[in-house]
Amino acid sequence: MLIRPAALEDAPAISAMLQELVAAGKRTARADADFVRTHYITGGLLCSVAVEGDEILGLQSLKRAEAGNPYDTPEGWGIIGTHVSPRAARKGVGRGLFAASLAAAEQAGLPAIEAYIQRSNTEGHGYYGAMSFRPWREDDKAIARRYDLT
Ligand SMILES: CC(C)(COP(=O)(O)OP(=O)(O)OC[C@H]1O[C@@H](n2cnc3c(N)ncnc32)[C@H](O)[C@@H]1OP(=O)(O)O)[C@@H](O)C(=O)NCCC(=O)NCCS
Repeated sequence: MLIRPAALEDAPAISAMLQELVAAGKRTARADADFVRTHYITGGLLCSVAVEGDEILGLQSLKRAEAGNPYDTPEGWGIIGTHVSPRAARKGVGRGLFAASLAAAEQAGLPAIEAYIQRSNTEGHGYYGAMSFRPWREDDKAIARRYDLT
């Protein structure tokens, strides 16, 4: 497995991987290639993919939170999102992706990274907990976890 920055040409393969998550009932957000290009690949600090051969196994995006972002993440923190194919789950893909994101967060001087995770998403909480993100605020839908870099 190789972890590398996502390229615009990866958008169709990333979209196919996200469609697998939709089919498995693990995603309700858009998964088309245009959304992948604008929401994940461009505009953030780093968008990493885990690749095996021609296949995309997973994606992690790290963005700098702007004022008024949809998650209410404090401005200047990182916002992280992780999406791993159900076929590749629990094989260390997420762990490998986070190593790359953490290095990028350190390089960018982020004070903290936040993950906004639906309350019912036990695997998401298990994963981010294992990556040392701790719960620190919640609303009716989600529990947000933070990873402090300072
Ligand atoms: C959550 C998710 C990102 C985990 O990715 P992954 O590649 O399977 O994670 P890893 O194999 O690197 O696991 C790292 C650690 O996280 C924890 N973990 C991962 N999946 C878990 C699960 N289903 N239940 C409990 N803990 C879990 C474990 O501690 C694991 O270490 P271990 O396997 O040595 O015990 C992946 O399942 C996924 O994309 N799910 C759907 C989308 C999602 O929920 N995204 C995150 C919330 S926004």
